[in-house]
Amino acid sequence: MIRVPISALRSHVGDDVTIAGWVQTLRLQRAMQFVLVRDHTGTVQLTHRRDGSALEAELEGLTAESAVRVTGRVADNPVVSLGGLELIPGRVVVESRAATPLPVDDNTGPEGRLDWRFLDVRRRPAARLVFDVQTTVERAMREFAYATGCTEMHTPKLMGTASESGSEVFELGYFGRSAYLAQSPQFYKQMAIAAGVDRVFEVGPVFRAEPSFTSRHATEFTGVDVELAWISDVEDVMDFEDRMLAHVLAAVAAEHGEQIRTRFGTEVTVPKVPFPRITMARAHEVLRSPGGRVDLDPQGERAIAAHMAGQTGQEFVFVTGYPASVRPFYHMRPAGEPDLTCSFDLLWRGLEITTGAQREHRYDVLVSQAEAAGIRTEPMRDYLNCFRYGCPPHGGFGLGLGRLLMVMLGLDSIRDVTFLFRGPNRLTP
Ligand code: 4AD
Ligand code: MG
Repeated sequence: MIRVPISALRSHVGDDVTIAGWVQTLRLQRAMQFVLVRDHTGTVQLTHRRDGSALEAELEGLTAESAVRVTGRVADNPVVSLGGLELIPGRVVVESRAATPLPVDDNTGPEGRLDWRFLDVRRRPAARLVFDVQTTVERAMREFAYATGCTEMHTPKLMGTASESGSEVFELGYFGRSAYLAQSPQFYKQMAIAAGVDRVFEVGPVFRAEPSFTSRHATEFTGVDVELAWISDVEDVMDFEDRMLAHVLAAVAAEHGEQIRTRFGTEVTVPKVPFPRITMARAHEVLRSPGGRVDLDPQGERAIAAHMAGQTGQEFVFVTGYPASVRPFYHMRPAGEPDLTCSFDLLWRGLEITTGAQREHRYDVLVSQAEAAGIRTEPMRDYLNCFRYGCPPHGGFGLGLGRLLMVMLGLDSIRDVTFLFRGPNRLTP
């Protein structure tokens, strides 16, 4: 018999159907046996009056979280709290019996839940919902990217030299020499621009050897990267990103808005574009932290976001014009302002979700910026060569998928939006 998702049982009242899922709760009473079975779509009650049958014995021997297949008749019963429906079982097949006791329960702390993440996700519909939302987010990003002329690229995560800075990079053995895990697709997406790919889109793993123990840092996370050729200036990059995010939020609101409200108490709204912008110089004025040469710390980011939300009613804000001292050498500098960069961060409710910039595409300028930053250019030969044979003006951004989901769902930690979190203290499961 074809398996029916539990959420669809309402349209099968009176029918014999098969469901498949996990035993959630057993209430074995003197006359009646009640068993709640959960699948990925919902939970249903099995109701069986004791009759001394083999079925009674089968139900009696069930354990919580056993994987079962149940065939029975769907019955309308207004007394049942789970949607006024029950299933009168005729046959129960235990496909895989769960050992007892379970290693997690409702009182298990965060680390214990991560240790048993598969049970944590299975048992908590809110935890499962995260990945359905993530799927919609990625689908909507791809829709937008494809519709605006992007080509999806896959760049290597194994590198012969460290990307970008060299710090924060994982080194590993590679046939008698060292390789490094990519901490950004940055150089390769620019190489794709030099290869004539007009607009680059990539979703892939990013590795950071940062000993950060915050709720928003992971050592491995999923990055969404975009790089656009032939831009006029960095505004073109910000325009692309805010329209992409408006499309994403519209898709999530339509598909999951109600469930997100129920499960997380968070409202998903579609933001107006363009997102407001504030320069770093202005941000420091607002924060009364003159000097302007320093980066915003997380507290400053939250304060700027709150200020902008008050002024514009928007939760998103682009902070622009970062000083060159806190940005990588490849960020373009505005004409006549060598201490500034044509770059931005995007904050959502005060959390950085993106860094982007126009890149320096003029070989000589790029090399002198690298040298001024004290970077050895020799290991970057392959990257720098991209700019020697005709490279268009270009710019792009990198967005942390986990950061985006965290803010979208109003969750406190990136651990809650990552299937299997990786941090300095966590390499398992
Ligand atoms: O700000 P980041 O380091 O920028 C870059 O990698 C540039 N190459 C991007 C560019 O195109 N200019 O990383 C991009 C984003 C951050 O804004 C943040 O959302 C996320 O990646 N991110 C992290 N997410 C989780 N854990 C970490 N340790 C993260 N570090 C950055
Ligand atoms: Mg950044």
